[in-house]
Amino acid sequence: MNIAILCSGSGTNLQAIIDAVKAGMIPAKISLVVSDNKGAFALERAKKAGIETLVLNPKDFKAREDFDREVIKDLKKRDVGLVVLAGFMRILSGYFIDVYRDKIMNIHPALLPAFKGASGIKDALSHGAKMTGVTVHFVEEKLDDGPIILQKSVEIKDGDTEEALLERVHKVEHEIYPEAIRLFVEGKLRVEGRRVKIQ
Ligand code: GRF
Repeated sequence: MNIAILCSGSGTNLQAIIDAVKAGMIPAKISLVVSDNKGAFALERAKKAGIETLVLNPKDFKAREDFDREVIKDLKKRDVGLVVLAGFMRILSGYFIDVYRDKIMNIHPALLPAFKGASGIKDALSHGAKMTGVTVHFVEEKLDDGPIILQKSVEIKDGDTEEALLERVHKVEHEIYPEAIRLFVEGKLRVEGRRVKIQ
């Protein structure tokens, strides 16, 4: 199966997925890394691993869907069967989600449905939560709301800083994202309404 990974930033999750593919843990090929940010370090990681990259500037497109249509053209060319969002800071259009229904995954740094949005770690900390975690889910139109594939908790300790918590959350992300992708690639995930059954 061909996978495409969409990133906007540092790409530590991308790196974990690259490493898992290299180690033979995920029987798939990362065919393309897409970014909306030409300065994303994720692009360096992709190049180093010999993966093709595509960079598109959102300012070059009138509408969100025009950007997405351009990305989809490249995904279709490579017969992509799974789209992985790894720190991609753009909301996908309904058009994109329709084309790849149940074939787009996202990772969120909290136990959804708690602490949705762009600052999941900071929000859990400032709320005083004792527990947070990581969620891998399928992407639907409503933000951070699609069927949940895997979740793992992370304890919040007294005196935790955002940096310390982020480091522990990232460690868990790098474990469960490759695992969720492996399950998908091996055909072990079935979406039944809101529930994802793992065989
Ligand atoms: C991760 O914390 C992920 O949960 C969120 O964006 C961050 C991406 O980090 N969606 P990285 O670019 O993979 O290091």
